[in-house]
Amino acid sequence: MPEPLEFQIALYPEPVLRKVADPVQVFDAELERIVAAMYQRMFDSEGLGLAAPQVGLRQRILVINEASNSDEPENNVTLINPRIVSRDGEKTTWEEGCLSFPEIYAEVVRPDRCTVEAVDVRGEPLHREFSGFLSRIVQHEYDHLEGILLVDRMTPADKLKNKVALEELVAEYKDRQSPT
Ligand code: CO
Repeated sequence: MPEPLEFQIALYPEPVLRKVADPVQVFDAELERIVAAMYQRMFDSEGLGLAAPQVGLRQRILVINEASNSDEPENNVTLINPRIVSRDGEKTTWEEGCLSFPEIYAEVVRPDRCTVEAVDVRGEPLHREFSGFLSRIVQHEYDHLEGILLVDRMTPADKLKNKVALEELVAEYKDRQSPT
């Protein structure tokens, strides 16, 4: 048995977060291992969703559990190679957070419903409609696969409110690149 994978969260502004992720081509035990480790990381970090670029992988993999409760695996939503085929419903505003932006929150406007086509971890096709909070999480996580981040969705007011925190994340990233 290979060792379980252990992932760290890539924090803004790590470049991997800006890459468009590539489709998964191979559905094997390694993919199952990656997905399991993504759930582990997400639950340990008390996140509601996690996209593979957030653990440094340029792959189109999303894991979601809207309760962030590892005791409720029936709420796990694993989306591989997802496509949002429609977004509709009322536009709603909600304060979103992101594991790649610790301590930062911003109001984001998104349509209430979305329809997703994807495959599961075995490559079996999935067609799902999401609404409300779950739809919001799906749309947030899907953004990660396109290299779109919370900071891109912020209103000018929220950018201003979070200016110092964002600058601190950039400074910490630079420190990690060239520790003094
Ligand atoms: Co996020």
